[in-house]
Amino acid sequence: MKILITGVAGFIGFSIASKLLQNKKILVYGIDNFDNYYSIKYKKKRLSQINKNKNFYFQNLDIRNKSKLSKMFKKNNFDVVMHFAAQAGVRYSLINPKKYYDVNDKGFKNILDGIIKIKPKKIIYASSSSVYGNTHKFPTSEKDKVRPNNIYARTKIKNEKLAKIYKKKYKLNICGIRFFTVYGEWGRPDMFLFKLIKSYKNNKYFYLNNYGEHKRDFTYIGDVVTILVKLLYLKKYNFNIANICNSKPISIKKICENFRTKYNFDKIKLIKKHKADVLNTHGNNKLIKKIVKFEKFTSFQNGFKKTINWYFKESINKF
Ligand SMILES: NC(=O)c1ccc[n+]([C@@H]2O[C@H](COP(=O)([O-])OP(=O)(O)OC[C@H]3O[C@@H](n4cnc5c(N)ncnc54)[C@H](O)[C@@H]3O)[C@@H](O)[C@H]2O)c1
Repeated sequence: MKILITGVAGFIGFSIASKLLQNKKILVYGIDNFDNYYSIKYKKKRLSQINKNKNFYFQNLDIRNKSKLSKMFKKNNFDVVMHFAAQAGVRYSLINPKKYYDVNDKGFKNILDGIIKIKPKKIIYASSSSVYGNTHKFPTSEKDKVRPNNIYARTKIKNEKLAKIYKKKYKLNICGIRFFTVYGEWGRPDMFLFKLIKSYKNNKYFYLNNYGEHKRDFTYIGDVVTILVKLLYLKKYNFNIANICNSKPISIKKICENFRTKYNFDKIKLIKKHKADVLNTHGNNKLIKKIVKFEKFTSFQNGFKKTINWYFKESINKF
């Protein structure tokens, strides 16, 4: 089986690639442009973990470059495409909205236009819980109304709409996944948990947005990978979109309080809410559980333990 993973130097792309490469029958073709939204060195460190595997091929490719992308698709007959390359992060979308339109909108269309030429058997792409915006309906299910409150979320909704059109028009076996605050080993340095641990390790102040008065449906990367692998072996995607979430929102304030006590870390400064942030996320995971027959999500306590142990072991604090 030959699988294309876009955004393979990124958190989720790298994590699924690492897992799939344990299976000697799978060839992984990864692309990434080493975007500088966060540390390129860190992305390269991730990639160095899998680069030596002889079933892994890497190409430095920007998904905004339609002609190069199209050549790559022509040369390779992928059985599966997993699309994770994107400009992630909600806050940065206030600073550089154009990049979101270029990478997430146009880049996504470029990927789909490449895909229709080779018609892979399966296509999975990343959407986001941020499409639900400031909803008050919890746990939020795939059928609930989307209320984007930032440009990042809008690009994800546009992706979902386009995928639906292509699915019908070109009979693609495609599905989108709305990820909820994924964390764990090799996680993203721009996200809350990583920043908290890093501040502690470097003895620097941690700035806690919205005075910690929000909740997130933290989802452990190990569970995300297990579910994505199960999805890969599913024959037909009879759904357009599914949430992947633990469905157990955790208070950010509580995490910080526990962290402060356990590690004797008092450099936590409370600051006001960021405009682009949503208050709470809490997804309904019934659909994905049913589709892939996955029951037991990792508790935040266990996932956090694994994350912090990994962080200390790898000495990641310079990134
Ligand atoms: N991690 C989460 O909690 C989360 C939550 C919701 C949605 N998502 C979505 O899941 C996907 C993967 O997220 P992630 O956390 O791994 O993010 P990430 O930023 O770690 O990974 C994205 C990768 O895409 C690459 N990339 C960016 N622009 C590119 C371009 N023009 N051409 C080629 N590659 C490019 C980056 O270099 C990066 O390595 C994204 O679509 C993201 O929006 C993630």
